[in-house]
Amino acid sequence: MPQYTSVETAHWALHMPQPNPQFWNNIAAKYALRPVSDVASYEYKLARIGQYLEDGMVVLEMGCGTGSVAIKLAQQFPGVRFVAEDYSEEMIHIAQHKLVNLGLSNLTFHCRCAGQEWQDGKVFDMVIAMNLIHLVPDWQELLEQVIKKLKPGGWWVSSQFCLGEISLAIRPAIGLVLALGQLLGKIPAPIHFLKVQGYRDVIQAKGLLIKYDWHPQGRAKVPFIMAQKPT
Ligand SMILES: C[S@@+](CC[C@H](N)C(=O)[O-])C[C@H]1O[C@@H](n2cnc3c(N)ncnc32)[C@H](O)[C@@H]1O
Repeated sequence: MPQYTSVETAHWALHMPQPNPQFWNNIAAKYALRPVSDVASYEYKLARIGQYLEDGMVVLEMGCGTGSVAIKLAQQFPGVRFVAEDYSEEMIHIAQHKLVNLGLSNLTFHCRCAGQEWQDGKVFDMVIAMNLIHLVPDWQELLEQVIKKLKPGGWWVSSQFCLGEISLAIRPAIGLVLALGQLLGKIPAPIHFLKVQGYRDVIQAKGLLIKYDWHPQGRAKVPFIMAQKPT
């Protein structure tokens, strides 16, 4: 039986021994061609992130997909160093291909599972996770690791769909569809059913200060949160 907590309502996931990028490898080419669904919100989030970037900072983006966010930010902030990672080789292959003609010396892409192989002593001014955290098997453990890697005053920036907010009436049907899709390899696993307030509570319980909490109009299930590590 799935575990129900105040943070997330269920783990509709097939249990896997370790994170598996196969689903994302399979869809990477299509994902790269997908237009941004809500351009205004996307630009708004980038602008908010940009407000806190300064020359000399080092930023990590986890689960960067084909690299659009990292590329946009690296173009806009040449004095900031960006490291962008994803565990899907295909996503990173496409991201690196995009870089070829851009001449960006302040951005590198790496194929890495979030939280793994982080060099000791490496610290960041900001860690970004867009549409990722609900997919990470132990996302709370990952958040703890991230916080250790943040400099004092550093930022945790995240945005994701909180499936735990969907109506109770349709949740079993959605759960069934997801489980079936996961069995057929058409949907990634795991997918956490996060609750918005539960997610905020975890961030704060781990010691971060929520400084910016926004969602696109009419889309309260997709919080964009910027939280700072105390100085
Ligand atoms: C929904 S996509 C989001 C991509 C990009 N951040 C965006 O917002 O367009 C999720 C991405 O996270 C990556 N991903 C999922 N779990 C991961 C993990 N444990 N470690 C690293 N990357 C992961 C997938 O390969 C995929 O590229």
